[in-house]
Amino acid sequence: MKLPRRFFQPLAVGAPQPLRELPVRLERMIHFVPPHVEKMRAKAAELASQVDVVLGNLEDAIPIEMKLEARRGFIRMAQESDFGATGLWIRMNALNSPWALDDLVEIVGAVGDRLDVVMVPKVEGPWDIHYVDQLLAQLEARHGIAKPILVHAILETAEGVKNVDDIAAASPRLHGMSLGPADLAASRGMKTTRVGGGHPDYRVLGDTAAAGSERASAQQDLWHYTVARMVDACLANGIKPFYGPFGDFSDPLACEAQFRNAFLMGCVGAWSLHPSQIGIAKRVFSPDPGEVAFARRIIAAMPDGSGAVMIDGKMQDDATWKQARVIADLADLVAAKDGPPLGP
Ligand code: GLV
Ligand code: MG
Repeated sequence: MKLPRRFFQPLAVGAPQPLRELPVRLERMIHFVPPHVEKMRAKAAELASQVDVVLGNLEDAIPIEMKLEARRGFIRMAQESDFGATGLWIRMNALNSPWALDDLVEIVGAVGDRLDVVMVPKVEGPWDIHYVDQLLAQLEARHGIAKPILVHAILETAEGVKNVDDIAAASPRLHGMSLGPADLAASRGMKTTRVGGGHPDYRVLGDTAAAGSERASAQQDLWHYTVARMVDACLANGIKPFYGPFGDFSDPLACEAQFRNAFLMGCVGAWSLHPSQIGIAKRVFSPDPGEVAFARRIIAAMPDGSGAVMIDGKMQDDATWKQARVIADLADLVAAKDGPPLGP
């Protein structure tokens, strides 16, 4: 571990100063775009008005023979469209792949001043973050990039989960982390074939039922342990946790339930792989209007957050004031993006 004094020093002469606090941004959904597809690129500007983050996917799901076209397509998309306040990210190829180096060298060289975040797949430990961190600093310095490009890790290997705390603390360049349930299931040898979501056979059986009645059983959440570890690692280090992909586009209810569990546990967003998931993410990751109204009452009653007050018979103190601030700040960002909520 670096000495605290050196932790925030730029890693290359001429690279921008690493950020001490993450920029305040709305990131309810990270919307995946395959940049080698012309039709998708053409819609990028329109998409930017509907989603919080547009991500050009270069990794899995892009055919090998299209890898270079996807990289070039992303560069064109970044040059030709105005993304305004919408985030512009890439998911680079894995660090052990033949494409990873040029993904960063070419993209940062061409559009590094427009790129907000690089998502790094299959992160196994802090050493992966250190490599990307150093390379990005060299490229930022070479191309005179003023704003540091942030790094987002996908938590999708058993070794990555084992090292999640060290990954989250690896660099001031870290933006956050997403759960990658498909690769994680493969890495762990889980007996599933799905991209996120539950499994009907993963259940707890109740005690023996009375004669003639069914024995109760309930499906459990396969991802609870990993999401909980990810949320703790992220929040302990001031970075953002996200649920990742939900692959069954024909089951919006299960997608919403998965997103909501992640939201309640502390995640701030999820991936949208299909346009139908954009609305689901907006619904889930925008705070509930009743909660917002109550949060604003707490803040009004305790402007500086100190002391204790009773509101509707419920005790409020420093801890509920901090929760209220999170909800109220999120509501302000949502109103700025989507417009004010439709009132009575
Ligand atoms: C995402 O990349 C996943 O593997 O689930
Ligand atoms: Mg993956």
